[in-house]
Amino acid sequence: MGSKKINFNNSKIIMSAGFLKQVPVSLPHIVFSGRSNVGKSTLINKITNQNKLARTSSAPGKTVTLNFFETDKTFYLVDLPGYGYAKRSETEKKKWSELVEGYFKNFTEHIKLIVQLIDLKVGATADDLVMLDYMNSAGLSYIITATKADKLNKTNREINLNKLKSENTDREIIAFSALSGEGVNETRGCIARVL
Ligand code: GTP
Ligand code: MG
Repeated sequence: MGSKKINFNNSKIIMSAGFLKQVPVSLPHIVFSGRSNVGKSTLINKITNQNKLARTSSAPGKTVTLNFFETDKTFYLVDLPGYGYAKRSETEKKKWSELVEGYFKNFTEHIKLIVQLIDLKVGATADDLVMLDYMNSAGLSYIITATKADKLNKTNREINLNKLKSENTDREIIAFSALSGEGVNETRGCIARVL
């Protein structure tokens, strides 16, 4: 598989889908998954070099639709609403699971890669483990991006990274920080390699 030269800066929003029938299918999907507030929308902005492409917030539960950004006419970056946000109402949780679970079930063949975000300081939560199990059993291709790496000192960073590596052997694991920019190019590289 050749690595394609992609202009990540050439990205624009093309759909905010609240319903599965709105999901665009003309290009392959690169999906950003993880718990609410882990940094999915922030990572998309870093990858595309655009501060305001995906909306971010310090309060969890910001992204509520499936947001599709078209990059270089080559693929869609898919920003998902995060899981594990306890304060959502039952109605909102039901809507979330119908939309996100329905998306994974119905668009498996369009998903080229999942970038699974795990907070490096928090480590894998019970919900993260459910997601990892799901991706493994569904045979979905994924990498792990360990976010907010800037919040740890050198020692704890290594301890937590090694733990993630031992729990997910043979899996690409990238440390990411929105503050320093580390991990952005590596994540771009992984995306380019699957196309
Ligand atoms: P939902 O849309 O609720 O699912 O959340 P999300 O995963 O899209 O999180 P978002 O990108 O909105 O980021 C949540 C908060 O974390 C924001 O305040 C970001 O500025 C912050 N954040 C994201 N990445 C990093 C990082 O690498 N380091 C630090 N220190 N903060 C980060
Ligand atoms: Mg978001």
